[in-house]
Amino acid sequence: MPSNRVIVALDYANKNEALNLVNQLDASQCKLKVGKELFAIAGPQIVETFVARGFDVFLDLKYHDIPNTVAMACKAAANMGVWMVNVHAMGGAKMISLAKEAIVNSSHQPILTAVTVLTSFDQDQLASIGLSGTIEQNVVRLAKLARDAGADGVVCSALEVAVLRSEIGKDFCLVTPGIRPAGSAVNDQNRIMTPAEAMAAGSDYLVIGRPITQAKDPLASLIAINESLG
Ligand code: C5P
Repeated sequence: MPSNRVIVALDYANKNEALNLVNQLDASQCKLKVGKELFAIAGPQIVETFVARGFDVFLDLKYHDIPNTVAMACKAAANMGVWMVNVHAMGGAKMISLAKEAIVNSSHQPILTAVTVLTSFDQDQLASIGLSGTIEQNVVRLAKLARDAGADGVVCSALEVAVLRSEIGKDFCLVTPGIRPAGSAVNDQNRIMTPAEAMAAGSDYLVIGRPITQAKDPLASLIAINESLG
């Protein structure tokens, strides 16, 4: 039975709102995702606060830069005690392998995941940056590149999980956003699955934001989602 598979996306432009939400959550029932917006406002301190409270923190900064810079950034993230850190697979094999090396040589070793193709991309946008083939072909190619360079997994759409499991196997961490419990608002997501569907498809972790953060009772919403994972 899956446990602690939900990563709550703390998409807030205000430090206190994030802290208010986290005060209502329980570290044994979820992990937390700190992205670029909250990190730009509240910095390493808020990450360290969550880690000190016992939460696993996914630092979602999607690093993409020259290999040395990304490696040093991953080292800094590792030293904050985060559970997961990520890079863009399009940064290439050398960038990913140096990032992995920096993590392996750190005293604390977060899981390293890579973003393949952003889910906001459609076929036209992919072609406009010079990439041929379908989105799925590019996702699979970049996921294999990331795996071969030492990444532990990828962030992908739940709709891509089945093909990635068949092409890459089970020992590869698949983290999926775009999750909506049955009956909840879709918001701006397009390609969605329910938590249970995404787990059944083979996701390891579900990134869920608004269905929890904007619920009247966030902990109750989280508990209901966890129960639906049965
Ligand atoms: O509120 P919601 O559940 O839609 O939040 C989803 C989270 O996952 C947000 O933090 C969003 O930035 C992130 N995300 C996504 N799609 C991706 C990658 C990340 O929705 N492909």
